[in-house]
Amino acid sequence: MSEHAIAWTVNAHPRRDRVEARTSLADHLRLEVGCTGVHLGCEHGVCGACTVIVDGRAVRSCLMLAVQADGACVTTVEGLAAPDGTLHTVQQAMREAHGVQCGFCTPGVLMTFAALSSDAAKADEQAMIAAMSGHICRCTGYQGIRRAAKALADKAVGSGQGT
Ligand code: FES
Ligand code: FES
Repeated sequence: MSEHAIAWTVNAHPRRDRVEARTSLADHLRLEVGCTGVHLGCEHGVCGACTVIVDGRAVRSCLMLAVQADGACVTTVEGLAAPDGTLHTVQQAMREAHGVQCGFCTPGVLMTFAALSSDAAKADEQAMIAAMSGHICRCTGYQGIRRAAKALADKAVGSGQGT
């Protein structure tokens, strides 16, 4: 068994862990860090349920090794809301647009939208809608998620982002 030491940050908390070379970031986040909001659907990069933010970019954590997160800042869905429970903008948008049914795909969708909406140059409606193509949802027919994407893009334009 080959283990490696990593020093990283998860949801704004610095950590040091020992990880096996073969362990995926998704498995480590779920099983060792306790971030069970990181959902595993396909485990081969198709469904998007495992999406987290790594150094500002949306990443499929089933396709990344935990050892590759050494030195990185990782955010999972558990880190989106404020410490007082105030929802993140993307959570609020999904809630208002009824973009959630069973919730299995939801953490991944939220993380993709959060990564995009934090980047002013990418926060337009087309980018948001295109990003949905990387997420499989069995329940919603995508219309609620699409409404949330549009609301987020409109908000970005209204605030001077995405232009
Ligand atoms: S579980 Fe990672 S993309 Fe499906
Ligand atoms: S809300 Fe059920 S899979 Fe998307």
